[in-house]
Amino acid sequence: MRKLSITLAALGLATQAGLAQAAPEGDPEKGKQAATMCTACHQADGSGKHVEGGESWPRLAGLNAEYIAKQLHDFKSGKRQNASMMPFANMLSDQQIADVSAYYAQMDATPGQGGENASEAVLKRGEQIAERGDWSEYVVSCKSCHGPDSRGAGATFPGIAGQHAGYIKAQLKAWQEGSRSNDPQNLMGAVAKRMSNEDIHAVAVWLANQSPVAE
Ligand code: HEC
Ligand code: HEC
Repeated sequence: MRKLSITLAALGLATQAGLAQAAPEGDPEKGKQAATMCTACHQADGSGKHVEGGESWPRLAGLNAEYIAKQLHDFKSGKRQNASMMPFANMLSDQQIADVSAYYAQMDATPGQGGENASEAVLKRGEQIAERGDWSEYVVSCKSCHGPDSRGAGATFPGIAGQHAGYIKAQLKAWQEGSRSNDPQNLMGAVAKRMSNEDIHAVAVWLANQSPVAE
């Protein structure tokens, strides 16, 4: 119920700003059908998977519907590049993108993986970066954009708490190298370029250990 009212508030805002007009309305029931070809990687419950040393599949369950739709449009147009993902995004019509996005958004968020074996010291460093940032490195806190406890803020800032460590790391590295650049105004590129590999690892494992939703 809480989630629903937040979603409705977000839709209301988007409508006011004229953003929702072009996008078709998503039907989660139809989205479930289109999602059958996604479960091989993103799993039937939308949990995705942390794959140590390989390509991790992000959790989609509980992410903001508009954020999911934006990513699918970006893969389809080539603005966001990934060899595993692009063929599947290419198969979806605009209506199907709206439907699968609505489907995953209403699923219960599942816990993040990949932070289980991290040491206390590494987790402490990760918490510092996520919660307070590190001004000596000009790194602002993740939560200043990603919302309270980094659980997401509207359609623009996705929840990253409870996302898989391997996926978070891969995205930060992709922004650092310039292979992901579909973020508005290079907001993430600017953050990632200032981070060391150690700090990327620390913040990824700490975020993976956090709950994706308020308890
Ligand atoms: C072969 C495995 C595979 C399949 C099948 C697959 N995906 Fe993905 N998906 C990935 C990978 C890997 C990524 C991360 C890509 C990257 O690193 O940029 C991803 C990323 C995404 C993202 C971005 C998530 C985010 O948080 O930004 C969305 C949305 C998504 N997939 C939706 C889908 C949908 C919908 C389908 C089915 C139509 C699907 N995927 C099928 C592997 C897959
Ligand atoms: C200045 C604002 C800002 C700050 C600070 C910020 N982010 Fe982001 N981040 C964004 C935006 C905007 C996006 C969505 C990009 C898009 O639309 O593709 C994003 C996306 C991400 C994603 C991809 C999520 C997904 O599901 O694909 C990860 C991972 C991420 N941020 C990690 C971090 C971490 C870790 C920090 C702290 C070190 C951080 N961000 C700080 C703005 C920010």
